[in-house]
Amino acid sequence: MRISVIGCGYLGAVHAASMAELGHEVTGIDVDPAKIQALQAAQAPFFEPGLTDILESAMASGRLSFSTNIADAKGAQVHFVAVGTPQKKGENAADLTYVDAAIDALIPQLGVSDLVVGKSTVPVGTAERLAEKIEAGSGATLAWNPEFLREGFAVKDTISPDRLVYGLPAGEKGKKAKQLLDEVYATALSNDTPVVATDYATSELVKVSANAFLATKISFINAMAEIAEVAGADVTALADAIGYDARIGRRFLNAGVGFGGGCLPKDIRGFAARAEELGRGESIRFLLEIDKINMRRRERMVEMVIEALGGQVYKKKVAVLGLAFKPDSDDVRDSPALDVAVRLNGLGAHVIATDPEAIPNSIRLHPQLGFATDTMDALNHADAVVLVTEWKEYRNLDPVEVGKLVRDKIIIDGRNVLDPVQWRAAGWIYKGMGRP
Ligand code: UDX
Repeated sequence: MRISVIGCGYLGAVHAASMAELGHEVTGIDVDPAKIQALQAAQAPFFEPGLTDILESAMASGRLSFSTNIADAKGAQVHFVAVGTPQKKGENAADLTYVDAAIDALIPQLGVSDLVVGKSTVPVGTAERLAEKIEAGSGATLAWNPEFLREGFAVKDTISPDRLVYGLPAGEKGKKAKQLLDEVYATALSNDTPVVATDYATSELVKVSANAFLATKISFINAMAEIAEVAGADVTALADAIGYDARIGRRFLNAGVGFGGGCLPKDIRGFAARAEELGRGESIRFLLEIDKINMRRRERMVEMVIEALGGQVYKKKVAVLGLAFKPDSDDVRDSPALDVAVRLNGLGAHVIATDPEAIPNSIRLHPQLGFATDTMDALNHADAVVLVTEWKEYRNLDPVEVGKLVRDKIIIDGRNVLDPVQWRAAGWIYKGMGRP
């Protein structure tokens, strides 16, 4: 099929390359010339495992091209809209400027039999409004097809999703839209991927409620960590024990410095704001509490560093291991790791932060921090070590070797991934979050 993908960020670039990899003929379009230039050279404009490989193979096949010109979307049957919906400045609600701009630019390129497919995360009710605009401007149809990909696993999640959700209009238009989507996703469907075909509103809500559930699960275990801290209990053993109950499950029960990234934080805030607009604010007001629990973990992490350093961090050298919001990503949007580094720096600590991929993005936002590309340089003569993103290379650090580099053997494990017994045996003061 001929496909266009509008917006080539974390979501769109992966989607465009994956669709081409699956045999479709794809044009990726973005307003940012630097991003398009990189993609045209088969270079991923951000770090995502496996993306460069499929960009190279899809470009070599001749099925994938990139452009800054929206007119290049003309002639495609299916147009995916994958632009960002960030949080509005100073408000909880989602900013739909980019979605509306993409739709407005796309409408003149559409034919009546075209299908526009929204992938961006939007407040419930948006698809209905956009469908009317598209219908009036071109006669084309809109479907909503939320995306559940996780950064770090984006290629795998796009090519082999665990489910497909189609938000469709009623009647004949809906039937045709479903046929086209089934054709787009033929490979996944042949592997028995479940499909939930539903209305617009449900499909929009599926996405935000999935993220709300995941955020709640993380903040739940972090709330237990807060209690464990005062009760002298161990939240990791607690998570293991409750996780054995299949109804609860162990995944997403890792307590620590909390969640960040371009989705979970802004999506729960946007969802709460949308519920208020709909007159049902009380139904999900608990999400604001989930947000507060999450933000408290960052404060707690900083407090723990201060306590461990005897009451103040001023002029102390603190090695911060990790800046990305999670491993296998260079994304620092709303990153707890970067936030902790910035807070410590604000208190006068001499922060040396490191990350395998996220240093360039961090420098752009916070050039005031100290950075080291080599982990050993960051650790050298540190008064305390803070692990905030659980990259494999940090999980595998040897406490004996690291102990030879630092000034004081103090480690605060913000992701509860190190073995306290092993680190303490090597002479370290080890502190986890919600662990005795
Ligand atoms: C999330 C959703 O998982 C994905 O389905 C959706 O499409 C986009 O948002 P992503 O932002 O890539 O994906 O990250 P995710 O793996 O969900 O992690 C989010 C944050 O939660 C990270 O900061 C991670 O460190 C944190 N986290 C995760 C925890 O603190 N504890 C856990 O147990 C799991």
